[in-house]
Amino acid sequence: MSGSSQHWIASAGAPLRGRVRVPGDKSISHRAVMLGALADGVTRVSGFLEGEDTRATARVFEQLGVLIETPSASERIVHGVGLHGLRAPGAPLDCGNAGTGMRLLAGVLAAQAFDSVLVGDASLSKRPMKRVIEPLERMGALIESHDGLPPLQVRGGRALHGVEYALPVASAQVKSAILLAGLYAQGTTRVVEPHPTRDYTERMLAAFGWPVDFSPGRAQLEGGHRLRATDVDVPADFSSAAFFLVAASVVPGSELCVDAVGMNPRRTGLLRALRAMGADIDVRNEREQGGEGVADLHVRYAPLRGIDVPVELVPDMIDEFPALFVAAACAQGRTVVRGAAELRVKESDRIATMAVGLRALGARIEETPDGAIIEGSTLHGGAVDSHGDHRIAMSLAIAAQRVGGPVRIDDVANVATSFPGFVALARGCGFGLDDAGEPASDQLV
Ligand code: S3P
Repeated sequence: MSGSSQHWIASAGAPLRGRVRVPGDKSISHRAVMLGALADGVTRVSGFLEGEDTRATARVFEQLGVLIETPSASERIVHGVGLHGLRAPGAPLDCGNAGTGMRLLAGVLAAQAFDSVLVGDASLSKRPMKRVIEPLERMGALIESHDGLPPLQVRGGRALHGVEYALPVASAQVKSAILLAGLYAQGTTRVVEPHPTRDYTERMLAAFGWPVDFSPGRAQLEGGHRLRATDVDVPADFSSAAFFLVAASVVPGSELCVDAVGMNPRRTGLLRALRAMGADIDVRNEREQGGEGVADLHVRYAPLRGIDVPVELVPDMIDEFPALFVAAACAQGRTVVRGAAELRVKESDRIATMAVGLRALGARIEETPDGAIIEGSTLHGGAVDSHGDHRIAMSLAIAAQRVGGPVRIDDVANVATSFPGFVALARGCGFGLDDAGEPASDQLV
């Protein structure tokens, strides 16, 4: 059942050509607002993602008494209130669709003097929160939920203490929630991960002057310091670039450059997977932007072959599997994904939604509990549902570039959570893609 009436009609367009610049990194944008709000002084954020998820986080901090100016699109000026300057909100705090927003906020709010309530949209309300509640409660927090699901009632006035916590699943969100609570805790907070995950919280805390001891797979800090405002220059989001990397790899005749993409090694697993499949992607002009490596990614069409995706790559490409599934369906031979059960608790069950979606377009794909087996297939037109999941919608739009007949993709409004302007950017470089707004009963299928 479709959650929003907005849908797309997609079909093979032209070979993809030109240069594109995708919006700012979602993970870094969330964290820039959060740390800016908790810092002493004024933080200027440039390259901020103007997506629904990150705007929801900014709105939450406004409700908590933080002044956030928007001098121009993709810019925020955050007037930090200091670690202890947040004010009790007068209403529930709405994180929208954003798991990152809710989980990281749980860590911050668990340490405040006041009570607060975190709520989210229908998708977020089904996502597991025990993974943050459990470690935060070990630190002394008190958080009530609906059997581990939002809304979260976060009790204030609790004195937190540091813990040593071994994460059962590799999750940067959980790690970050614990570290943020650790800012307020007495003593040392130490997190150990089963596989290294993105380290943006650690890096940004250090940039804001908080001593953090971290290396891949572990992070440690002590309570009792201060955050000092600093400017944050957000690089383009590798996860948004991923759709163009896959699209240009599978549409014959394509040659495309995706500019100034964030290249943190904990995010670029898809690049390694695509190269192992035979993709022709050049990393050019590597440089630093705001303390993060960025590069221009030059991609040319190349025939792909199926691979066994190495399990150790999974955390480094956790958000890119919907796009990888499309690459696999367009490749020659079999691709096997395993060790990726986390995909089942993202904005949708991404194994199931991609399996149903790609099958509707003629792909042979078999679900497994922790992944999928995908055979290279000849795709055809049809009707598919993104189940309100931004990355599913954009991935299915790529698949549609390989089919003659039209593909109708339902429930696409949430693309605005991470990639406002996707349709215009994609069309501009050759995608066959129409934003069809309200569905008309006589249209397609
Ligand atoms: C994120 C971490 C990942 C990722 C999400 C953003 C972050 O989630 O899927 O889109 O910003 O920390 P998990 O940490 O739950 O794997």
